[in-house]
Amino acid sequence: MNDVENIKVGVVGLGLMGSSIATNFLIAGHEVVGIAPIPADMVGASDRIDAHLTQCRDLSLLKKDEAYYRSRLVLSEDYASLQGCALVLECVIEHEEIKRTVYDLIETNVDRDTVIGTNTSAIPISQLQKSLEHPDRFLGIHWAEPAYATRFLEIICGDQTDMRHAQFAYDLAEQWGKEPTLLRKDIRGFITNRLMYAVYREGLALLEDGSATLEDLDKAFQYDVGSWVSIMGIFQRMDYLGIDRYSKMVEEIFPMLSKMEHAPAIMEKMVDENAAGIRNGKGLYNYTDEEAKKWEKVYMDFSKDIYNLINKTR
Ligand SMILES: NC(=O)c1ccc[n+]([C@@H]2O[C@H](COP(=O)([O-])OP(=O)(O)OC[C@H]3O[C@@H](n4cnc5c(N)ncnc54)[C@H](O)[C@@H]3O)[C@@H](O)[C@H]2O)c1
Repeated sequence: MNDVENIKVGVVGLGLMGSSIATNFLIAGHEVVGIAPIPADMVGASDRIDAHLTQCRDLSLLKKDEAYYRSRLVLSEDYASLQGCALVLECVIEHEEIKRTVYDLIETNVDRDTVIGTNTSAIPISQLQKSLEHPDRFLGIHWAEPAYATRFLEIICGDQTDMRHAQFAYDLAEQWGKEPTLLRKDIRGFITNRLMYAVYREGLALLEDGSATLEDLDKAFQYDVGSWVSIMGIFQRMDYLGIDRYSKMVEEIFPMLSKMEHAPAIMEKMVDENAAGIRNGKGLYNYTDEEAKKWEKVYMDFSKDIYNLINKTR
């Protein structure tokens, strides 16, 4: 087991996820360097991390008081502060060129054996790692928000990733309170996106051919899958209900499932109309400002409840 308190880690990019991940690193016991690649991060990140630490206290995730964890955090615009970090996680905007510029700055300032991770949602790791001077130390470390109150974490190897570094991140992730998964091959979309896009495709196809409304598709998914998915995975579910039942249904239903390869008209229309969901109130549903704010709060409270609930069943 790694001695987390003596392992310094860095986070580059302190937006929504970077702040939340930095908090997770702090409460796991690391000394943390947060790099602000844009000046706005220096203004907002400190308050965001303070607020997250308070949330962690409410969740009973802290072993020491908030001031102790705060004292283990350095925020800086200077990449040289990353010196001595065993792991640096890039968490900047999902833009390939910007990420590449950030990797140059990280590599110029860290030791040869520092592992560099990216929280990219969808850019292939093998593609990103091509621009690194030492691509063997580069891998994907994909989190879910809020990072400190979710168990999910995917570790993704690119074509050139040295498995020793992936194992290092995997072992550390267990000390971050995660249930990590290791993807040895760099498949597009990683694990969860692959699974979810299969669901999205089928849902959109049923919507488009008029089989069911948006509201009913959401309800069916929420109240069926939502009633078991936090306690068992899809294959545990198969065993729980009986694999024999599933094999017959697979034969019958797979041939009927959508094979759609393009974004359906409803999505194209939304994009043309500049719909951004709760961010601008216009999406597949419409939202007032109050409703958008309520969703953010309700989701945060729910994450806390689920986190605690899963603790009881582990
Ligand atoms: N939000 C999520 O739920 C989520 C989940 C998984 C992965 N991710 C991934 O995490 C990464 C960060 O996402 P986020 O939601 O925290 O985004 P965000 O918009 O909250 O933060 C983006 C950050 O990118 C940096 N940035 C912006 N412009 C920059 C520039 N020109 N040069 C250098 N840095 C710049 C800043 O630090 C900024 O705070 C993305 O790759 C995203 O795909 C996000």
